[in-house]
Amino acid sequence: MENLLALLDTVLDVTVMTLALLILLGLITVAVLYVIDVTQNTQAIRKNYPVIGRLRYVFEHLGVFFRQYFFAMDREELPFNRAQRTWVARAAKRIDSTVAFGSTKPLNRPGDIFFLNGAFPPTKEEIQAHTPAPIIFGERSVANPYIAPSLFNISAMSYGALSGPAISALSQGAYQSGIWLNTGEGGLSPFHRQAPCDLVFQIGTAKYGVRDEQGGLDVAKLTELAAIPEIKMFEIKLSQGAKPGKGGILPGEKVTEVIASTRGIPAGKDSISPNRHPEVTSVESLLDLIKTVRDVSEKPTGIKFVLGQTGWLDDLCAAIQARGIDSAPDFITLDSADGGTGAAPQGLMDNMGLPVAASLPLVDAVLRQAGLRDRIRMIATGKMVNPAGMAAALCLGADVVCSARGFMFSLGCIQALQCNENTCPTGITTHNPTLQKGLNPTLGHSRRELCRLNE
Ligand SMILES: Cc1cc2nc3c(=O)[nH]c(=O)nc-3n(C[C@H](O)[C@H](O)[C@H](O)COP(=O)(O)O)c2cc1C
Repeated sequence: MENLLALLDTVLDVTVMTLALLILLGLITVAVLYVIDVTQNTQAIRKNYPVIGRLRYVFEHLGVFFRQYFFAMDREELPFNRAQRTWVARAAKRIDSTVAFGSTKPLNRPGDIFFLNGAFPPTKEEIQAHTPAPIIFGERSVANPYIAPSLFNISAMSYGALSGPAISALSQGAYQSGIWLNTGEGGLSPFHRQAPCDLVFQIGTAKYGVRDEQGGLDVAKLTELAAIPEIKMFEIKLSQGAKPGKGGILPGEKVTEVIASTRGIPAGKDSISPNRHPEVTSVESLLDLIKTVRDVSEKPTGIKFVLGQTGWLDDLCAAIQARGIDSAPDFITLDSADGGTGAAPQGLMDNMGLPVAASLPLVDAVLRQAGLRDRIRMIATGKMVNPAGMAAALCLGADVVCSARGFMFSLGCIQALQCNENTCPTGITTHNPTLQKGLNPTLGHSRRELCRLNE
């Protein structure tokens, strides 16, 4: 008994000593921070409210998460609100995605789209019996036209912006669902080829993957890529909705050895693409580049852009008519001003370019007027993550719809808005192996139910 009491005494002494030490350490830390804060001259809040002023930064950071979980209403958040994200997450996991009681979407805002239901809708069996016409790319311009097996596909996201496991999951999911995966501007990585899915190879302004030493087009590399049967089409990127006028940005901390070798650039340094293909200065030189890529690859070749000024489209149509209809791009991917990205300046993200709901009917009308609408396929991108978004795009003039962030949600993205920081908590946009552990490509690829949008 005495021994037990002595032991208890010792434990108590040690606990009290530890506590006293911790308090002392705490006080010393506060004192040091106090001195640092009052002697610095760069932040007013810390100078006027030493130590406690620092909490502001902690709360600012935590606010992003608290708002999402506790305070924001179902339809409030941007870029995607909880109702949209939840639908995708549930559909991807094949959990019941019906909702109860009534719509939480206000139906009285300018620009709202309403579908007009018919009095006698076709039955499910009648819909299933109807075979839609196939969407063919490059039907008359190339030796290898592409018959797209799906109206809904995965939009460009580079290996670099996305992690290896995320691209692997998308590749396997695309293969199982029979949809295409666009490589994005970072070249073709081994992760894109995890499964033999259809691929669209994107040629960005830095021409990663098909780049010669001066940054121009390396025809030999293009020929090698064109021989890969999974690569069905080539897309020349002129601009992107989230950052028109600016090339791709991959911060140095995300440029790992594998990414560097895929792109043909040094590891650890920022990977910045130019804001324009250096050789494309006019509609004529654009048609020249399209011709080169198509002639070398013998595969359908198109362009991607977000529409801003519109006059050049008339010039493009006139130049196509002068050269002959075969010179036209086989497709146009029209991105939306509110499209996503791995990293972009906020000024461009917020203020530049037209949303696809406005630009799609416009481009469609210009092509129709020029008699080119049947020749050029239209692909639309921009926040079409739910069936209504996709249906609206098809009604407004698209032949095919692609989504980027929709597929990120299906992989488990929680919209933490950290794609530019290598700290993505779900492993989708980080190259930190510890954070990537949470993303299981085998589970991720099976979450392809988002493709139900096709139905
Ligand atoms: C993480 C991320 C990376 C992207 N990388 C590219 C890219 O390499 N090339 C490109 O043309 N677009 C890129 N995009 C834009 C998408 O392809 C798409 O055009 C845009 O996000 C609109 O689609 P969404 O609203 O479904 O995301 C990227 C988007 C995201 C979110």
